[in-house]
Amino acid sequence: MKIFLDTANLESIRKFNDMGLLDGITTNPSLLSKEGGNPKDAMAEITKIIKGDVSLEVVSTDYSGMMEEGKRLREYGKNVVVKVPMTPDGLKACKSLSSQGIPVNVTLVFSPNQALLAAKSGAKYVSPFIGRLDDIGQDGMHLIKEIKEIFSNYKDSFTTQILVASVRHPMHVVDAAKIGADVVTLPPAVLEKMLSHPLTDIGLENFLSDWEKLKKGNPDVKI
Ligand code: G3P
Repeated sequence: MKIFLDTANLESIRKFNDMGLLDGITTNPSLLSKEGGNPKDAMAEITKIIKGDVSLEVVSTDYSGMMEEGKRLREYGKNVVVKVPMTPDGLKACKSLSSQGIPVNVTLVFSPNQALLAAKSGAKYVSPFIGRLDDIGQDGMHLIKEIKEIFSNYKDSFTTQILVASVRHPMHVVDAAKIGADVVTLPPAVLEKMLSHPLTDIGLENFLSDWEKLKKGNPDVKI
């Protein structure tokens, strides 16, 4: 399963990229707004740091506006994936951009039928928002299972990848991997939690204090 970071925060992107963990980035207008500053600088920098796919989202809601913005966003780099909303105009833009060789991520997907239609219109990625479904008392992960089953039934004709979005905690990641989702996009805080375990911290502390004991009898010893 590929791991994307769901952020426009350059510090987090650099930090996790230096650990070799990132296959790509997803952004949206809310994430860019959270960082402040000029969004154009952030988008340019992110596409430079990351070699894999970087989703940058349109803000127009009509077909021609999405096409214009999609083409402009693509100028940031060959790794840009244009993110469009799951609307009739969004799917029309998805079809046109995809047939011009510009990959598309269809976002704000909340049902298996929406995912099916996004795949039909040629999306490279479909982004079901699982946390927002959980928030309203529906089972977000069940949606991933349904989309996975549908796409698997037609794997010879669909190449669309399931990009699990709106991830809230590490168990979402485990469950998405068990289902066989193609990608999860994670807020930095979730990736941070996945890294750590209290037994790792205790174990390391013990190793270091035992080494200090050993050093008492061997003051010049070095590893
Ligand atoms: O990429 C956007 C998606 O992950 C939204 O997450 O936390 O705003 O529901 P959230």
